[in-house]
Amino acid sequence: MAIRELSPPRVAIDIDRLMEIADRAQSTLAKLRDDLLEPWPRKTPPSLTASRLAKLCKLDRAQINYLCTRGNKGEYPTGTLKGSSRSREFTLAEAQSFVRAVGTYKTRPPGAKGIVICVGNFKGGVGKTTNSVALAQGLTLHGHKVLLMDLDPQASTTTLMGYVPDAEVTEEMTVMPAVYGEQPDLSYACIPSYWEGLDIIPSSPALFGADYYLPNKQAADPQYEFWRVLDSAMGPIREKYDVIIIDTPPTLSYLAIGSFMATDGMIIPLPPETLDYASSTQFFRQFAELFKSLSEGRSVEKQFGFIKIVLSKVKPAAATTDVVKSWIQQTYPELLARSEVLESDLVMNASAEFKTIYDLHTYEGSMRTYNRAIDAFDSVVDEIENEVQNAWKLQLVKENSDGE
Ligand SMILES: Nc1ncnc2c1ncn2[C@@H]1O[C@H](COP(=O)(O)OP(=O)(O)O)[C@@H](O)[C@H]1O
Ligand SMILES: [Mg+2]
Repeated sequence: MAIRELSPPRVAIDIDRLMEIADRAQSTLAKLRDDLLEPWPRKTPPSLTASRLAKLCKLDRAQINYLCTRGNKGEYPTGTLKGSSRSREFTLAEAQSFVRAVGTYKTRPPGAKGIVICVGNFKGGVGKTTNSVALAQGLTLHGHKVLLMDLDPQASTTTLMGYVPDAEVTEEMTVMPAVYGEQPDLSYACIPSYWEGLDIIPSSPALFGADYYLPNKQAADPQYEFWRVLDSAMGPIREKYDVIIIDTPPTLSYLAIGSFMATDGMIIPLPPETLDYASSTQFFRQFAELFKSLSEGRSVEKQFGFIKIVLSKVKPAAATTDVVKSWIQQTYPELLARSEVLESDLVMNASAEFKTIYDLHTYEGSMRTYNRAIDAFDSVVDEIENEVQNAWKLQLVKENSDGE
């Protein structure tokens, strides 16, 4: 009692004090950053074992071995024989060209454009970023050329791809010049990453600027259509890439709206937890109202090639999992993906080192744990692969019927 009475009154925190805190936080982060992230090249692509390659090609190891030796007329990379067991290992680029040579996954047909897929949910922490990056990597393992666009000003995808958003990503490197109308399309912003076949458009806190600029511009010029800003900047990149994955912020921001207007398909990661399920119903309400309000009195039309709810961070042993899963199944029967991503310590620990499951090339723990985790992601990638192939077919059908 006495101590409480004697302690000095707390001082209110004024704006100058807030500024000091912000400055301190920034410089502490700058110091920590160099310890957290290795020097360049910060991330290196994994190599793949023959069994992993066999799985991707949907062949067995003996068939891979045959294609590397007697069955090889120079079209298949042979990898390198490693260790005392002389087992084959393939670099990422070798694995990708092997998969392409085997032809397990059809390449984009001539005349078809890249398929845009937004990963969205207005709740944070549901697995948007983890699944965006893994999906982008996974589709390159099928031999596709992929662009990963980060539209979240928090820039976790950019960080996972090996960049430090607020130190290394200038506004000019992000989508913002296209948003400001200084660039006609987004080609200027596509940069290669450490991962072959995967380019990125990084993000930085500069993206918060879109939520001031776009509504002001719209208010000043009623002819302007802010919701078309990203779609109209996509032209050349739809030619250049087979698939464009967009990681979106957990809010209905102006850029998120732009990306929903530009996208062919949506993936909604959803952990089977009560609160996440509840907020998913709000997501669909807001999402539907958005398109309704945009279309009222205007010629705005929007069709999605596909919308998939992918159960993420699934805890099979948790008592509530099956119950919430059954609610989700009843609520969204036509949207629920067949495959689901299990919660795994491996995935969580990998993300603490800025990695996804696909980045791990050496794994010391139990192979069973590793296989379970990677199989889950592979089956999601396979399911999306089907959607992409289907979208390409539809494009060509539409093109032929439009031409008649
Ligand atoms: N399958 C998974 N297993 C374990 N942890 C996961 C899994 N997917 C995501 N996480 C973790 O959950 C947290 C939130 O994921 P994240 O992808 O950043 O979500 P969002 O982008 O929706 O905010 C991260 O710490 C991530 O490592
Ligand atoms: Mg995220």
